[in-house]
Amino acid sequence: MAQIGTALEQAAAYLSAGELVGIPTETVYGLAGNALNPDAVTKIFTTKNRPSFDPLIVHTSDIYKVEGFVQDFPRPLRLLAERFWPGPLTLLLPKKPIVPDLVTSGLDTVAVRIPRHELTLELLRQLPFPLAAPSANPFGYISPTKASHVNDQLGDKIPYILDGGACEVGLESTIVGMLDGEVTVFRLGGLEVKKIESIVGKVQVMAHSSSNPQSPGMLKSHYAPTKPFIIGNLKELVQKYQKEQLPFAVLSFQEHFSDLDSGKQMQLSSRGSLEEAAKNLFAAMRTLDSLNVSVILSEYLPDEGLGKAINDRLKRAAAESMDGLEDS
Ligand code: TXA
Ligand code: MG
Repeated sequence: MAQIGTALEQAAAYLSAGELVGIPTETVYGLAGNALNPDAVTKIFTTKNRPSFDPLIVHTSDIYKVEGFVQDFPRPLRLLAERFWPGPLTLLLPKKPIVPDLVTSGLDTVAVRIPRHELTLELLRQLPFPLAAPSANPFGYISPTKASHVNDQLGDKIPYILDGGACEVGLESTIVGMLDGEVTVFRLGGLEVKKIESIVGKVQVMAHSSSNPQSPGMLKSHYAPTKPFIIGNLKELVQKYQKEQLPFAVLSFQEHFSDLDSGKQMQLSSRGSLEEAAKNLFAAMRTLDSLNVSVILSEYLPDEGLGKAINDRLKRAAAESMDGLEDS
């Protein structure tokens, strides 16, 4: 078959025709559509099976373009944008009417971000509209960090996936907005809170809850594998499941268990790097979820820097399996 233009041209053509395209970013892959076209936005919700009350992030290439769809850019948030864009930071800003209510689920703020990935930045520079893009996974499942992850789950539902390699950060963006006049983190993510505080001083972090309408994507059970996912003291968990003779897989931070099958365990970073662990987290959860085991055993990482965001994702992955057992 004749090659019709470059990958970028193909992606741009589908998006301009109101179709959806899987796009790479430095955080996770997105399921993108024209943010200003309500039909394209509707397709995003149906393709992901996402409830319409959960608003989308709008992606663009330059700060000056953001002015086109927000009413106001509070000074602390502008400082963060200037320092960390392009990068794993999403800002909640008061929207202009040009942004369809569907995108923001009726909220009067719109989530905006400039991603740090050359292919996608070039795509966003070429397109005459911004892209609405949630993570490219079925609602509630683990976010994709490789083009093949998108293809496995949504490949038969979308016409094109732009392959930009493995995501460099591996965790979704940190979401920041103003609440009662204070800079507030609504979702922990790929940009560490201490980096944000180095620019704007102390910020408040909203504790996650299953019933928080401020950020509906903060649902307690999210990013979840299909297998039960249990977190605790790994050595003790391993001993317990060995005794019970149940087939299990192990997701550890650094430790290799020499008495266990290498194919059924993964280390997030054998050298103990939280950045490396973040990058590997979702792919490792997917791999272990595909094994023929009845449970995945894991542990929390050090609760500092990116470890806080990683622990947040681990906790949500385990929320359903461990409901009532633990809430720390
Ligand atoms: O890194 C990321 O942010 C990735 C890549 C593709 O950019 N996107 C992503 O999108 O994680 P999604 O849809 O999976 O998560 C977006 C989150 C949801 O939790 C949603 O509730 C929240 O952003 N959100 C969007 N607009 C909001 C608003 N106006 N107010 C509060 N929360 C909002
Ligand atoms: Mg998501």
